[in-house]
Amino acid sequence: PKDVGIRAIHFVIPSMYVDQTDLEHYDQVSKGKYTIGLGQKQMGFCTDLEDINSLCLTAVSQLVDNNNINYSDIGRLEVGTETIIDKSKSVKTVLMKLFEPSGNFHVEGIDTTNACYGGTAALFNALSWIESSAWDGRLAIVVAADIAIYEKGNARPTGGAGAVAMLIGPNASLVIERGLRGTYMNHAYDFFKPDLTSEYPVVDGKLSIQCYLNALDQCYKSYLSKCHGNINLNKFDSFVFHTPYCKLVQKSLARLYLNDYLNSNSKEMDYPGLEEYKNINLADTYFDRDIEKAFMEHSRSVFENKTKPSLLLASRVGNMYTPSVYGGLASYLCSIPLDNLPGKKIGVFSYGSGLASSMYSIKIVDNELAYMITNLKKCIDKLEKRIRVTPEKFTEVLEIRQKSLHQAPYVPVGNKKDLFPGTWYLSNIDELHRRYYERQ
Ligand code: ACO
Repeated sequence: PKDVGIRAIHFVIPSMYVDQTDLEHYDQVSKGKYTIGLGQKQMGFCTDLEDINSLCLTAVSQLVDNNNINYSDIGRLEVGTETIIDKSKSVKTVLMKLFEPSGNFHVEGIDTTNACYGGTAALFNALSWIESSAWDGRLAIVVAADIAIYEKGNARPTGGAGAVAMLIGPNASLVIERGLRGTYMNHAYDFFKPDLTSEYPVVDGKLSIQCYLNALDQCYKSYLSKCHGNINLNKFDSFVFHTPYCKLVQKSLARLYLNDYLNSNSKEMDYPGLEEYKNINLADTYFDRDIEKAFMEHSRSVFENKTKPSLLLASRVGNMYTPSVYGGLASYLCSIPLDNLPGKKIGVFSYGSGLASSMYSIKIVDNELAYMITNLKKCIDKLEKRIRVTPEKFTEVLEIRQKSLHQAPYVPVGNKKDLFPGTWYLSNIDELHRRYYERQ
């Protein structure tokens, strides 16, 4: 099959958010810590009406409704998430409820979990299926969704929530470049969720940043080793990253620039003003202020052009975990005039703590691209239709989630009227912990 990749993207964001300046005030931290220090503007969150199943139900049903396809056209459905509510039953099986009216139960694929990486693993599975002998000619759907919340403290402003559903098949507009993939996986306790009764992770913030930046270096090295010729950031029109918070992404772009600098055979000519750094060792530089500052300054215009446009959803919704990097892709696609998109090459870096990471690239082809972008813009326009709530109310909602998690029987107390029309929500949980969903 030709041009295998992403044919459509549907993004789901929560209908409520808290403003990061309000949160700075409420948390009594210094002004600018979340907004300038982390680069975040707003943070989306869900009430107890939404869980991982409902988010994925919303994403898949809206993707199908908006793209003139039928459930019988789908031969594979993959879910990537780290929001676990059942140790055995997958989200994928819940989504099969949507397929029931079509009579199509012949749908491969299941859930994949490792922190923020599951969506990318799911995407790779779907691509492999289409390129394999098992492919039956039908399309695949990849869903990535999470509810990212942290206990009170310095990680809380880096939460978020969201879902993305992507239609995968041949003749796609976002073609995944074959053979060009770099991967780095290793064992680390930077961020994990050992307490199965809690939605909150255990986080070693500093270690997680070091692991992320090291994974970025390793994936870039591995990606470049697959390319022919001299490749550096100049060969990409855009670079999108998994985005725990926007400031880390600006540092990450600077990090790729540092890699390019060290790889260059003509440092003096191509990178004037950075001579003093020519003998440094990458592994010693994760928290080196001088190097970070120098390379952030030198790469500023590259960042403004190639990466900043990808941060719209991340800055206004927060870290969505598995959908985060696809939010970067969606934001970039909607920020560029349609006519300028065909032919562009996008680098993608996906990271999940623990840790699993990959880098790959996308080539944009005009296979009904306008239709895809129009649909995507409608999703992003919902940013303006959200309800801003106070940090007090946000904290109250998180307390309700915490108290009610795994309660049975349970009827959610969140207000259905606050949801966007067409949203699936949890209507109740019975005494056997079986969950029931309805659509607003
Ligand atoms: N004005 C401007 N900037 C400020 C201010 C202020 N008033 N106050 C602080 N800052 C800056 C700091 O200098 C720092 O910038 P720097 O990183 O460039 O030095 C930044 O704001 C953050 O401040 P810290 O004190 O370093 O933040 P803290 O330690 O409280 O927490 C952290 C930050 C570690 C990211 C925390 O939010 C966290 O643990 N988040 C979850 C883990 C995470 O997202 N890890 C990333 C990869 S893994 C993943 O995706 C989950």
